[in-house]
Amino acid sequence: MYHLECIECDKTYPASELIHTCVECGGLLEVAYDLDKISVDFVESNQPQSVWKYRALLPFPADFKPVTIQEGGTPLYKLDTLAKTIGATNVYVKHEGLNPTGSFKDRGMTVGVSKAVELGMTTVACASTGNTSASLAIYGAKAQIPAVVLLPEGKVALGKVAQALMHGAKVLSVRGNFDDALALVRQLCDSEGFYLLNSINPFRLEGQKTIAFEVAESLGWKAPDVLVLPVGNAGNISAIYKGFKELKALGIIDSIPRMCGIQAEGAAPIVEAFNKTKNMIQPEMNPETIATAIRIGNPVNAAKALRALYESGGTAISVTDEQIVDAQIKLARLEGIGVEPASATSVAGLIKLMENGTIKRDEVAVCITTGHLLKDPEEVIRMCEPPIVVDATVESITKAVFG
Ligand code: F0G
Repeated sequence: MYHLECIECDKTYPASELIHTCVECGGLLEVAYDLDKISVDFVESNQPQSVWKYRALLPFPADFKPVTIQEGGTPLYKLDTLAKTIGATNVYVKHEGLNPTGSFKDRGMTVGVSKAVELGMTTVACASTGNTSASLAIYGAKAQIPAVVLLPEGKVALGKVAQALMHGAKVLSVRGNFDDALALVRQLCDSEGFYLLNSINPFRLEGQKTIAFEVAESLGWKAPDVLVLPVGNAGNISAIYKGFKELKALGIIDSIPRMCGIQAEGAAPIVEAFNKTKNMIQPEMNPETIATAIRIGNPVNAAKALRALYESGGTAISVTDEQIVDAQIKLARLEGIGVEPASATSVAGLIKLMENGTIKRDEVAVCITTGHLLKDPEEVIRMCEPPIVVDATVESITKAVFG
């Protein structure tokens, strides 16, 4: 029913093969299904949304028991006050920060760690800007498999480090950036037989594609006109595009949204490639942005992401740190949606794309907010006015409230 397939040379491998890339050409792998043999039961089902609701399109035997802590089923909010300020009428936010560990990574990890269990792997590992490591630590704990995580020293938000530590991962702080840590963990997995759970692992992306399924289902099994999301290592944009493609191939939806990838100005190699070098990525050697989750200069899934952008007729743009923080504050104060900076890039990008006419004000646009506000409390403390300290008297309090 499913196997691995190279996106460059189409070579196929059994799903049990322990490889990260194509042995023939080095291309990225994806999970391919015999779609005509699959009976899709979830369209008629009134079960609540969750990653495993869609298991007909996940790569496991029907009787496999997954490692799960109830991921997915995140709300799709229609924006109100913020939408009015930009003259938009059909803008939605899917708040992936409301997953169990506070980010969309849980969708990938429930599938990825389940695959590790199915394959009998004894240690799981990843490099991370934070959220992947938090999620891996938690699913490792649930499965009782040791987890090793490599983080770029000094560049991971506090909440994410706290999660990885508390759930018992071996946390290594690498003197280098995320791209260095990823290169190292790939070597470590090869030499030690650890199971690599970065998004180069195609099974992880299978879990993340359920974002597309939930969005389409919430809109009455229809695709939005555009889907806007932050891009770092470029796994999520590839996964969500694949999800929409599968629904279209099955005749469940009749169109695919234009995929719009948003990067931070100081870490925008996909945007550069999209605008200048087409399929050639020029790695950004010193990526820098307040959105530490997407502080990535050499995205491993670039080839898949660029395909998603070109084939869907989408676009890739960058936004400044100021625009990111502005969107984060607007989401928080106009809509009650608390997100970490990387997540706010989707809304910052949407605003820019509406201003320049790439997205029309009445189009159905879905922004993915990928991680929760509490992931990065230090950024909030730096950005916002501190609490006003008052004496414990009514007089002092009213004076502070009314100025
Ligand atoms: N938003 C958040 C909050 C993230 O943590 C990430 C990636 C992204 C967006 C970008 O997703 O890499 O699939 O393009 N975080 C990874 C990590 C790199 O290690 O947690 P992507």
